[in-house]
Amino acid sequence: MMAVGWRGLSAGDVSRRLGLAGEVMARLAPVSRVGGPEVVLPAEGVAARLLARLGLEEADRESTLAARPDVRREPELWWVLDRSYRLLLAQMGQRRAGDPAWRALPDRTGAVGRHLFVWVFLAVVPQVRDYHAAIGLTDEESWDSLSALGDELASSRRLTGRAGLDATWGLPLVFTGVGFRLGRLGFERSCPESGEHEFLQVGESVLNTHVPASRTPLTDEACDASFARAIALAGQFPERVVGFACHSWLMDEQLTQYLPSTSNILRFQRRFTTFTDRVRADWAPIEHVFHRRFDGDDVPGALLDELPQRTTLERAIVTHLRSGGHWHNQTGWLRTH
Ligand SMILES: CC(C)(COP(=O)(O)OP(=O)(O)OC[C@H]1O[C@@H](n2cnc3c(N)ncnc32)[C@H](O)[C@@H]1OP(=O)(O)O)[C@@H](O)C(=O)NCCC(=O)NCCS
Repeated sequence: MMAVGWRGLSAGDVSRRLGLAGEVMARLAPVSRVGGPEVVLPAEGVAARLLARLGLEEADRESTLAARPDVRREPELWWVLDRSYRLLLAQMGQRRAGDPAWRALPDRTGAVGRHLFVWVFLAVVPQVRDYHAAIGLTDEESWDSLSALGDELASSRRLTGRAGLDATWGLPLVFTGVGFRLGRLGFERSCPESGEHEFLQVGESVLNTHVPASRTPLTDEACDASFARAIALAGQFPERVVGFACHSWLMDEQLTQYLPSTSNILRFQRRFTTFTDRVRADWAPIEHVFHRRFDGDDVPGALLDELPQRTTLERAIVTHLRSGGHWHNQTGWLRTH
């Protein structure tokens, strides 16, 4: 360990040798390398057990363990690992404005690069678990929240055909304790609005709501329980939480033309009273319902031909696109206080 030179690397060396995007350096270069603990990775057996606890499927556990970073072999990647770890520690429990996404490292960093952030998240598990306990999450809620890692790895592998992580914006929020799962729904604390907003007053904030993919239906009872738990938890945050927002294709009101009004998706949508920020997003139902991706704005006809048409929703998505329509993401707002 002592003979290696990763500590002597400059941000410029690392960026040049790995071909890192400006976005990565903008995130990592300001992180102090002096003071604070250096990253320590869990030993092989501990890591294997932890990966199972975080809900990784076997294929993702194996690819992660096989791509364990090595400080001697890849000092530049170790530098990225260490800085990313310190960044998460510095941001623990801190709400952040702006784009939280961590984009994938360049392909030339290979399997280790594609799994590097998985190892960063593993390294920070003890601290985020402590943070969860401090804000009153139960043990089960804590592990449930962190199992977003397993969900995201599996979904990324299905979508891209490659093991490891693609761009992720949700996981840095989860592994700094800002995003958590409470029963059926996920939530994350957001920054308060600082200017004019048709739904929020200055200084008010909402919890962003997520609907994790699951075979479990989105029943009223499950959602009621999740929202009630979120309201209880939010009461002890320093910010003034006045309700919920949900930015999703599930908020597209055109779904009312196709789904019965008793469907869980429409019952969920009707909880939200104001809708803003509508953007065309045909990719969203294609990705979330069919687990498929395409290039460009328009869904290729050949892809539409391949999609299964077993359920009302599957037929709705395809029929609407075939008739020249589009699907949208928009933000639904729900005020509770
Ligand atoms: C949100 C979700 C749990 C709702 O499922 P649900 O509780 O069954 O929803 P509904 O009661 O409204 O279902 C209405 C119809 O759509 C179908 N449907 C719902 N979700 C479906 C899905 N993911 N794939 C295929 N069909 C689906 C149902 O089977 C039903 O059709 P049917 O009567 O012909 O069987 C589910 O759609 C899902 O897991 N989606 C992926 C997660 C997601 O997109 N999250 C938002 C990310 S921004």
